[in-house]
Amino acid sequence: MKVGIIGSGGREHAICHKLSSIKKVKQLYCFPGNAGTAKIAQNISINLNNFDELKNFIKLNKIDLMIIGPEKPLVDGIVDFLEEQNIKVFGPNKVASQLEGSKIFTKNLCKKYNIPTANFGIFQNIDDAEQFLKETKYPIVIKADGLASGKGVYICDKPEEAKIAINEIFEGKFGIANNLLIEEFLKGEEMSYFVISDGKTVKKFGTAQDHKRVSEGDLGKNTGGMGAYSPSRLINKELDKKILSKIIEPTIQGLKEIGTNYKGFLYAGLMIVEGEPYLIEYNVRMGDPECQTILPKLKSDLLEIFLSCCNEKLNETEIIWHNKKSLCIVICSNGYPDQFNKNVLIENLSKIKLGTNEYCYHAGTELINEKIYAIGGRVLNFVCLSENFSLSRTQIIDSIKSLNWNGGFYRKDIAYKVINE
Ligand code: AMP
Ligand code: GLY
Repeated sequence: MKVGIIGSGGREHAICHKLSSIKKVKQLYCFPGNAGTAKIAQNISINLNNFDELKNFIKLNKIDLMIIGPEKPLVDGIVDFLEEQNIKVFGPNKVASQLEGSKIFTKNLCKKYNIPTANFGIFQNIDDAEQFLKETKYPIVIKADGLASGKGVYICDKPEEAKIAINEIFEGKFGIANNLLIEEFLKGEEMSYFVISDGKTVKKFGTAQDHKRVSEGDLGKNTGGMGAYSPSRLINKELDKKILSKIIEPTIQGLKEIGTNYKGFLYAGLMIVEGEPYLIEYNVRMGDPECQTILPKLKSDLLEIFLSCCNEKLNETEIIWHNKKSLCIVICSNGYPDQFNKNVLIENLSKIKLGTNEYCYHAGTELINEKIYAIGGRVLNFVCLSENFSLSRTQIIDSIKSLNWNGGFYRKDIAYKVINE
């Protein structure tokens, strides 16, 4: 079987890596991939905005199954397009992808189905938004509606900050804005919760806690994710039940009522406040770096899981996990999330010796003349599975030290809440 994966991050390398160990998979293509995927797949450099070009390549090379990693092509309707061409594809369609593509779509769904989320208001212009803020308490959260690559969310402690946020959003910093969202600030602890669905059946796909801030102690600017651990320390049977019954099930039901279904990974970004789950956001894909953290724990055949979703047979497929603690540390280019140098050589990667339960997934890397260069903000993901988080972290830090790369930095305190307590 030939499988194609769209994306170029650590998430996609982790998916490729898992698939490459499956006998049935004879050939992998990654669009466009990175230096890590180059070793196990054929990297194809193609304009991902040009669906026709992609379709031609898929047909010409007789690719049997396409997996869509990132949100942008999903929100742009790549699944609908490929399915119309009779190409098997794993991921949600354009209507369902609004769960990530439009925060207002999701908020309205929450309202209609009583899904717990922060109280909110939608505002069409600066005056109405500012008028509302005169009567509110701080902190307050202001959000642009559409995709903003993890930006577009302002947590404002005072009126001056809120004013800047409103102006920037309406001035089009995150694309043309006809409206924005103002919501209550929820004080709690975040958790990433994953499910997979074929449109009929929903199955759990793990939990994790992601460290989004750039500096140790969860301080500094927001990033795409500096590391994660799985399972989240917050999850327990009771909470799990609440998440499924109060958040996931009504969402799937809500989509059904507007005439669509959900096929693919669904990632609920939750705030847990005194044991109660609140939906902060949906992502219509696996998380990054959560995917790299969770996938090594998967015992079952990932190809079979993808295929059963495409064939609406997920109810017949068991998803079994290793009962291990997984931890992931991301190495970033110096300067990230601000300006950083590109095309920095990473010399010692091939010399690193990884144990059986250790992985190094590439993200912003490129292979040029058999040498590996850092080209992105987040560069490498080191993952380790073991009996406890502390051991996993120590092993990863040893590997990173042996890499001895001075072009990047990492957080040494990933999972501190489960390690230092
Ligand atoms: P989002 O892109 O919606 O996930 O928001 C980015 C980050 O902002 C989240 O991961 C949270 O840390 C934070 N955040 C968003 N909405 C809220 C809220 N209502 N209350 C507290 N923190 C929030
Ligand atoms: N880990 C955050 C994200 O994937 O959006």
